[in-house]
Amino acid sequence: MRVGVLTGGGDCPGLNAVIRAVVRKGVKEHGFEFVGFCDGWRGPLEGLTMPLGIEQCRGILPRGGTILGSSRTNPFSVENGVERIRENLAVGGEDTLGVATKLADLGVRVVGVPKTIDNDLSGTDFTFGFDTAVNIATEAIDRLHTTAESHHRVLVVEVMGRHAGWIALHAGIAGGASAVLIPEVPFDIEAVCAHVETRFHSEYAPIIVVSEGAVPADGSGMTLASGEKDAFGHVRLGGIGDRLAREIEDRTGKEARAVVLGHVQRGGTPTAFDRWLATRFGLQAIDAVADGDYGVMVALRGADIVRVPLIEGTGELKVVSPREYAEAQVFFG
Ligand code: F6P
Repeated sequence: MRVGVLTGGGDCPGLNAVIRAVVRKGVKEHGFEFVGFCDGWRGPLEGLTMPLGIEQCRGILPRGGTILGSSRTNPFSVENGVERIRENLAVGGEDTLGVATKLADLGVRVVGVPKTIDNDLSGTDFTFGFDTAVNIATEAIDRLHTTAESHHRVLVVEVMGRHAGWIALHAGIAGGASAVLIPEVPFDIEAVCAHVETRFHSEYAPIIVVSEGAVPADGSGMTLASGEKDAFGHVRLGGIGDRLAREIEDRTGKEARAVVLGHVQRGGTPTAFDRWLATRFGLQAIDAVADGDYGVMVALRGADIVRVPLIEGTGELKVVSPREYAEAQVFFG
């Protein structure tokens, strides 16, 4: 059998580990041949392929990015898009797996692997890439603490997270943030300023961690988008950190600066956890193909890698619950 592999949406550390595991087990244990589709769904749409075998996978385990390339192409918004797509094995996040779910409903034989630094796919305890992003953000917060202390200034750290605040929450707790602002809970700017003042009273400088998708409760237009939309209709976010820093400075009189971590969170070497998780996802995904078990996504449940219907992973976003947010709030101020 010939199996196509593609990686779509925002890249994330661990994609190459999945590809390697899929190919190694597929070739060695199932006798499959592979073809790599380049640049996400654009590959099968436009017939962009590359050779994919054990040889192409040598040395890629610790490498960030994806050897197959990625894109945010949506075959459902392209004329005859679906007809041009056949049998694929897709590694993707919310959007890429959303496409896979619809294709599976149309009878396309597809297996999904949950990829996103945002960790916002339901059906799995964790997505791969998330641990690396949290570690990068945590290290940045640790470094910012020392410079914030020296200059007695507020540092606002903007992290990724369009609809879900998982990166902000985990890195904020791990890095000892004075406040963590997430898309799920509109923030009160006065409360944020109060946390800033409290922190200065105890002679420490505050670090405020904010998700790119966080919004103020009064809807005062601090959230930002360039107005541009991708093929899935998402506006480009970014800018909340800067606006928040300016607002804090105006209201408290304390100097405030913003640091936007942006794509740094998606790049570079995956952590050992992400390599381990991605590898196990890859092994289970190719076994699903061998079993003819299509329309599924592999998932982490406790310590086990299981298969769940694709719709379970993509039907609903996994967001931070009030209980989980309350754990971070204990440390605000
Ligand atoms: O989907 C993952 C993600 O990291 C989001 O958190 C973020 O909004 C988006 O990608 C930005 O991606 P890009 O700049 O590549 O379009």
